[in-house]
Amino acid sequence: MGKPKILIARKLPPAVENRLCRDYDVVLNPADRIYSRDELLGALEGKDGLIVTPSEKLDAAMIAALPDTVRIIATFSVGYDHIDIPAARKKGLVVTNTPRVLDDATADIAMLLLLAAARRAHEGEALVRADEWRGWHTQMLLGVHVTGKRLGIYGMGRIGQAMARRARGFDMEVHYHNRRPSAEAEALGARYHDSLESLLKVSDFLSIHCPSTDETRNSIDARRLALMPEGAVLVNTARGDIVDDDALISALRSGHLFAAGLDVFRGEPAIDPRYRELKNVFLLPHLGSATVETRDAMGYTCCDNLDAFFAGRACPNDLTGRVAGE
Ligand code: DGY
Repeated sequence: MGKPKILIARKLPPAVENRLCRDYDVVLNPADRIYSRDELLGALEGKDGLIVTPSEKLDAAMIAALPDTVRIIATFSVGYDHIDIPAARKKGLVVTNTPRVLDDATADIAMLLLLAAARRAHEGEALVRADEWRGWHTQMLLGVHVTGKRLGIYGMGRIGQAMARRARGFDMEVHYHNRRPSAEAEALGARYHDSLESLLKVSDFLSIHCPSTDETRNSIDARRLALMPEGAVLVNTARGDIVDDDALISALRSGHLFAAGLDVFRGEPAIDPRYRELKNVFLLPHLGSATVETRDAMGYTCCDNLDAFFAGRACPNDLTGRVAGE
């Protein structure tokens, strides 16, 4: 029997592609051009498995149209809102993701956004680059103090916990909202709120770390933003569609929010153009997991899942609860 045939939808780190080329019969995407739905379906003819990223949208119709030879989808991401998991389960597919390995890198970016938004890093950098800095003065680009403030963490999973650890280094008082209290969070001294509303009321800073689901999508809306203290700062490294853009932009324009730091956007990379016009937003292009070490580890996690599947073992990060041969 030959090696399993795997389509790799996007360009992956070189070390990961080398391992995949060694162990599988692979089709790579060296130009990294995003496949259209029809191109992806065509390229999957005769393939046993597929590695995707959040740029490939595998909704129910797409899952139903996948060739029957395809039995596993490994996503190079921890988030899986781009894949209809119930539809995949119904079709008998295994879907895996890459948890844990990106917790620290993502929390680092959340902390970077928090500091940059609070301390007006983008405005300061623009001033220096444009050669418009005319010297130090006491009222120049005053920001919001971070040390000792209350940080609300919306979604206290592993990335939320990594953010809480970082915030403790800044002597922040950590609060969180989850469906239920978490022992790990309590061990970090974080205070539980059983509703998002209650969390928002005490959040001088809010960092979003929940997944995008039917429950969380658009959950940060105008009514809830109004509950946040005047002059609060919002940070999002999770998914753009958790936040209602109209509501956030109007809170930033009115000054109700001092600033925001955003790494993720609804419809990215085509972001709402109004964000570019706001000085009090620090914008990054979805860099949460973008370190060499983390991206390698994410790729190796995809490989580990494929290896387990094709060896007939349970996949370490199976989202569908199925094993090979079922
Ligand atoms: C993920 O893994 O879901 C990230 O958004 C990609 O870095």
